[in-house]
Amino acid sequence: MADLLPFWSAPDEPLDCLYLATAEGCASVGDLVLPDDSVRAINHAVEELGVRGCEGEVLVTASPSPLFRRIACFGIGKVADFSLYSLRRLLRRVLEQAGRNREYQIAVALPFAPADVDPAQARAVTLGELALADYRFDRFRSHPDEATKVDGVSIVPLRGESEASLGAMLDRARRLDNLVRLARDLGNRPGNDLNPTTFAHELAAMFERTAVRVAVMGAKELEKEGLRGIAAVGQGSVHEPRLVRLEYRAKKPRASLVLVGKGVTFDAGGISLKPVADMALMKHDMAGAAAVAAAMRAVAEDEPPLKVVGLLPLVENLPSGSALRPGDILALCNGTTVEVEDTDAEGRIIVADAMAFAARYHPDVLVDLATLTGACKVALGVELAGLFANDDGLAAQLAGLGMRTGDRVWRLPLLPQYRDLLKSEWADIKNSCGRWGSLPASAAFLSRFVPGSARWAHLDIAGVAYVVKGHNGLPAGATGFGVRLLLGLLEDMAARQ
Ligand code: BES
Ligand code: MN
Ligand code: ZN
Repeated sequence: MADLLPFWSAPDEPLDCLYLATAEGCASVGDLVLPDDSVRAINHAVEELGVRGCEGEVLVTASPSPLFRRIACFGIGKVADFSLYSLRRLLRRVLEQAGRNREYQIAVALPFAPADVDPAQARAVTLGELALADYRFDRFRSHPDEATKVDGVSIVPLRGESEASLGAMLDRARRLDNLVRLARDLGNRPGNDLNPTTFAHELAAMFERTAVRVAVMGAKELEKEGLRGIAAVGQGSVHEPRLVRLEYRAKKPRASLVLVGKGVTFDAGGISLKPVADMALMKHDMAGAAAVAAAMRAVAEDEPPLKVVGLLPLVENLPSGSALRPGDILALCNGTTVEVEDTDAEGRIIVADAMAFAARYHPDVLVDLATLTGACKVALGVELAGLFANDDGLAAQLAGLGMRTGDRVWRLPLLPQYRDLLKSEWADIKNSCGRWGSLPASAAFLSRFVPGSARWAHLDIAGVAYVVKGHNGLPAGATGFGVRLLLGLLEDMAARQ
């Protein structure tokens, strides 16, 4: 990732280019903190260029200011229409163009905030997006394209910002960038690279010498602890299933939070095999676990006054001679018996098992993230995650955090009627139903495994965790959805007395 630097004083050498966001009807750089003569010269040049600021406009000229070699004006359109998604698209275009032009040291001036983000957070969100705008997944390229990587991005301060306030926002942006990158990298890694064994190993290494304790349960221990669901879904793969527990406890915790992340490192569907088309995408069926891992990294760094436990059930869902069969009946961790109607509805089995296991941590709040259903992707697309909650306050909190952070969620109904769709002839419940109502039914399934009186929210991230092609400024691949939302939740809970 490029270094993010505040631009307070003139550099020794001029920067390669100043990227300036311009808007329709405001062709002035007034709010930027630059030496007066530079502001005048740049304003003049912008006028000469005939900048109109419409969305998509890109105009470049030699810089009249000695601070830069050239200036590139990127139009954002009308300020009122400037959204988080337009911001992402803009920043990605800026970093791509700079890279293509071999501009290794650039400055970026962003005097406009997205209108759909809480104004108090907008600048921080903008800088976070900027840090992420050059994300690439190069792990499997024998010759990563180093020539087009920007080295340094200098942020032009806005009027009213101090070295301390901008510095603090840049620290946050870098940290967010690291955590979202971690989640994206995990989500982009294919099944032959990231499997339950390697994932668990890496988590153990990642949290070594931190305040987060790691415990990894293998197949035998899962059976012994009654986690038959996780054991059974993973039994078809040569890579044994795991439950990774990431446990953190402050001295006097203000609240107890458990985060559960679905970690199917590859989902072929099992005996109920998926169609060939798009099966390769199912390498990202562990995006929930990736988001929880990143959130726990933040916990290890911050040591908030909370008890926080991340539970990551890790399995590979494959068909084989030892695989789970349709019709099998399993007793999950809280004793509930499940008839497996469809082995491709594996996510709810492993997430439910981990949720029931969470009872031992007495959570006040339990949040699970899972790429659970294609139906959620059909319903909400890649714009919003599905949210189900047994508590209005928690639902409203997450919806609000979604708007603030950009990880947007939409609440869907959790009603007892949907539980009826899961009645089984042979067991307490079955794991799938017909097409109609299958999305709320998946949440109704999970709702039977909420421990005690925990306030619970389920986030179905099947649509938002991965984009096949670049979309709204997100590069193709894993998006890291949920990391920002969970960071927001942790901050909220730590701040509450
Ligand atoms: N991992 C899939 C859901 C999914 C689909 C995630 C598309 C991301 C993108 C999940 O395990 C699954 O296969 N769900 C089934 C459930 C059905 C069999 C009840 C589905 O949605 O088709
Ligand atoms: Mn599946
Ligand atoms: Zn799945």
